[in-house]
Amino acid sequence: MEKLENLTGVYIVEDHIATENLNPTIKVYGERLVEFEGKEYRIWDQRRSKLGAAIMNGMDMFPFEEDSKVLYLGASSGTTPSHISDIISEGIVWCVEFSPRMMRSLVELSRSRNNMIPILDDATKPLNYLQILEKVDIVYSDVAQPKQSELFMDNMRLYLKPEGIGIIMIKARSIDVTKSPKKIFKEEESKLKKGGIRVLEKINLEPYEKDHMAMVCELAF
Ligand SMILES: C[S@@+](CC[C@H](N)C(=O)[O-])C[C@H]1O[C@@H](n2cnc3c(N)ncnc32)[C@H](O)[C@@H]1O
Repeated sequence: MEKLENLTGVYIVEDHIATENLNPTIKVYGERLVEFEGKEYRIWDQRRSKLGAAIMNGMDMFPFEEDSKVLYLGASSGTTPSHISDIISEGIVWCVEFSPRMMRSLVELSRSRNNMIPILDDATKPLNYLQILEKVDIVYSDVAQPKQSELFMDNMRLYLKPEGIGIIMIKARSIDVTKSPKKIFKEEESKLKKGGIRVLEKINLEPYEKDHMAMVCELAF
């Protein structure tokens, strides 16, 4: 078992990335559990999680800390949020998801993880959850929608602390299937720049996710 430098809470266990299980003996998405020196680790499947794929592809700016407050947009049934919940064991992850079906699994998962708060709402309407949230250190967005950059910026402007970090997983095919992904990534980056967001790092998620790019960002002003 090896702890990864610069990647708080991420370990290498039996040649795989992993997080320490906040809820020992319980699996979230069928992942393997491995015991080492009295602790239990959950193997992080980079083919099921874009954050896992970004780490495997050398993500350098990893903003998560043990006490981070995170706003997660597009939480689905909680695969990636569960690993974030392991990492930020003293923090909170607010998980926004608008599909009632996904929300049922997310609510179930949140019952056994007291740093995960599910929010059934539409991430294009960030004012809807103003009463529930406080300012966060990280806004993480993975919604696979045509307006993904716009909703990411709206949430960043409303909820991100000035020194906070935003991470967006851009899915080119959700924006326009007729354009080349390379062109779409360029266009989305320039949208972010025009919107006052500085892109600090870009990570292509191939071969784990086709036509996806992770962008790590900050508020420029
Ligand atoms: C690619 S999946 C997310 C996978 C998840 N992030 C993970 O890694 O475990 C995208 C999710 O975003 C949700 N979604 C799409 N548009 C949304 C919106 N406007 N508000 C909230 N959730 C949305 C979808 O219902 C879907 O569950």
